[in-house]
Amino acid sequence: MASNIKLFVVGAFAIAGFTGNAQQNQADIDKKVEALIRKMSIEEKVGQMAQITLDVIGKGGDRYSAAQPISLDAAKMQDAFAKYHIGSVLNAAGNKALTPQKWFEVISEIQKTSLKTDRNKIPVIYGVDEIHGATYTVGATMFPQQIAQAAARNPKMTEQGAAITAYETRASNIPWNFSPVLDLGGDPRFSRMWESFGEDPYLCSVLGVAMINGYEGLDNDIANPQKVASSLKHFLGYHATVSGKDRTPAYISEEALREYHLPSFKAAVDAGAHTIMINSGIINGVPVHANYNILTKLLKEELGFKGLVVTDWADIENLNRRDRIAATPKEAIKLAINAGIDMSMIPYQYEVFCDNLIQLVKEGGVKQERIDDAVRRILKVKYALNLFDKPNTNPKDYPKFGSKEHEKAAYDMAAEAITLLKNEGNVLPLKKNIKVLVTGPNANSMRTLNGAWTYSWQGDKTEEFAQKYNTILEAVQNEIGKANVTYVPGVSYKNDGHYYDEFADKMDEAVAAARNADVVLLCIGENSYTEKPGDMNDLYLSDLQTELAKKLTATGKTVILVLNEGRPRLISKFEQEVKGIIQSYLPGNFGGDAIADVLFGDVNPSGKLPYTYPRYPNATISYIHKPSEEQKKAEGVYNYEADYNPQFQFGFGLSYTTFDYKDLKVSKPSIKKGEKIGVTVTVINTGKVAGKEVVHLFTSDVYASSVTPDVKRLRRFEKIELKPGESKTVSFELEPKDLSYVGRDGKTILEAGDFEVMIDKLKSTFAVSE
Ligand code: BGC
Repeated sequence: MASNIKLFVVGAFAIAGFTGNAQQNQADIDKKVEALIRKMSIEEKVGQMAQITLDVIGKGGDRYSAAQPISLDAAKMQDAFAKYHIGSVLNAAGNKALTPQKWFEVISEIQKTSLKTDRNKIPVIYGVDEIHGATYTVGATMFPQQIAQAAARNPKMTEQGAAITAYETRASNIPWNFSPVLDLGGDPRFSRMWESFGEDPYLCSVLGVAMINGYEGLDNDIANPQKVASSLKHFLGYHATVSGKDRTPAYISEEALREYHLPSFKAAVDAGAHTIMINSGIINGVPVHANYNILTKLLKEELGFKGLVVTDWADIENLNRRDRIAATPKEAIKLAINAGIDMSMIPYQYEVFCDNLIQLVKEGGVKQERIDDAVRRILKVKYALNLFDKPNTNPKDYPKFGSKEHEKAAYDMAAEAITLLKNEGNVLPLKKNIKVLVTGPNANSMRTLNGAWTYSWQGDKTEEFAQKYNTILEAVQNEIGKANVTYVPGVSYKNDGHYYDEFADKMDEAVAAARNADVVLLCIGENSYTEKPGDMNDLYLSDLQTELAKKLTATGKTVILVLNEGRPRLISKFEQEVKGIIQSYLPGNFGGDAIADVLFGDVNPSGKLPYTYPRYPNATISYIHKPSEEQKKAEGVYNYEADYNPQFQFGFGLSYTTFDYKDLKVSKPSIKKGEKIGVTVTVINTGKVAGKEVVHLFTSDVYASSVTPDVKRLRRFEKIELKPGESKTVSFELEPKDLSYVGRDGKTILEAGDFEVMIDKLKSTFAVSE
């Protein structure tokens, strides 16, 4: 996996990828931090642990919404920085993107005030969610969202995209990015599935490490003004809620937590990520923000995480107001800080946090050492970012911001992500001399191509900022000429309401227009959403879009579905009637162009599903499951079939060419426990065009004594490119940990016995002996 380069690293960013110099720098930083901590008063220390949102110090309005456009209020800043010594600010005021120049002015003014008023001259650390490009900066390059990056299965591209995002984030004078999401995206109901790398722990680990390498650099030298501090989130088990709704309870066994949810975070900690954000939810009845075992014992002690632990939005307050595990705000602060939180994303009532925490320290409810540990972690990140010497980065030093070179990287990633799910009779690629009807609510929308966290939190302001990029409709028009394209929406989203509010928009006209077209491109899916506003009650595609699909297929015309959605909305009510399906996920500002290029054959699709696409709402099981989920007749004593039958399997994705696999070989028929084993396979392009193929290697442990083994697990993947007729032998190496599993007691076990290796439809076996 991509973290191989750093395998010698022992968890701490301080030593990650170390050289003599880096070690010396770290020793210098440690010395400076200790000197500073000795000088600081308790009030100053607590201030460092406090993070407020930008609106709090903006002119006009109240704390919750400053007047627009944002301008900073001197008196409010005085209170926050001089009196309360606040150490961190986040977010965009009014939840809206600013130009790089405006960001520069705003953050420079904050730094100036804070440095002027603070006798210790500690700069503020500014953090923003720049999750697929610099979200909150006008003119920034917007990449496909993480779920689409997972479909591209190209770690190098993910790393490059993150490096560009880091550059453009620093061009906005922002040094700290609340990304990547390393939650296991295993539940299609969850409103943030698309923010993840999908349902497989190994895929999440490899791409998570690639993203951190892009944000922080291979040496994690974030003093480099083109790099940012990354923040892994949301530790731990955030997407696994019972209800499928955001911030609701999860019940996860110790075994499952470690087997499925922990690996991506562990890999990222080993890769040297500087900060981490905590799961806003509740696991096994305990809010994670109050869970000492998860925050201190597991994260800080066992994983050896030396960086900064920040809460999610208002989550200390939530321990009191929402989760009722603390009777007062003060008790909530005590619980969270003692559990291991270093910085509170308050984000409004900072007096409540600061005053209570100061009092708690004075009364002995929170120990001075705990405060020092938290402040030490925060100051180390500020030093690592070189904020003491260079508190600001100026857009004028970033000439490549929003450049053609950056745009090309975003386009390339979108082109590699798009996944061809159905191609009956090779209906795709389309010829360029045909008449096309483009229809559906996603046909002419930049908002839907990008999803949320684009120019604003819910992505609802995208049309205002993304006019220069092409929607699917515009890209198709560019591809085959306006005269060949008819556009009727059929259904539209109500952009001023809830994400799922829609209305029939000339549906009959769309159906009539279909009759005059050679091909119907039906662009459907979802409008943008995230977090609570994205909660859902019905996984089926909306009734109106389903009605449109049924009416269009009833015309007998060739209908191609272009899916543009954050999670797999069910299409089984009409899927059989359509001839072709491409999944574009949330491909970003260049998604329209990439979709048109795939449809008309300029690009050969190579994306692979990063999740299982369910067929029915009560059958949302991941590809990672136990044998009973797919029991065959006569296999068990209870002689009935299980009906594991997803719409499309994890890893599925077609191409305009065909690939054959042969000669799957293991290097030895049996190995001793602790040894590695090699696996090779030959792949041949048997079609007529060049294409990229993702070779997935799965293993299964035939019998396991502590817990029932999973049917299969992804252990390696590699994307290769082959010309027609060309073949390539791909080699992998499996390590002992790839053959191990977490047992009932939470400990990792490697057992002697038989193992299977599966690549495509080939299977080979080997044994592990004592
Ligand atoms: C989200 C986080 C995000 C934070 C700051 C929260 O509501 O859950 O993912 O980083 O807000 O914007």
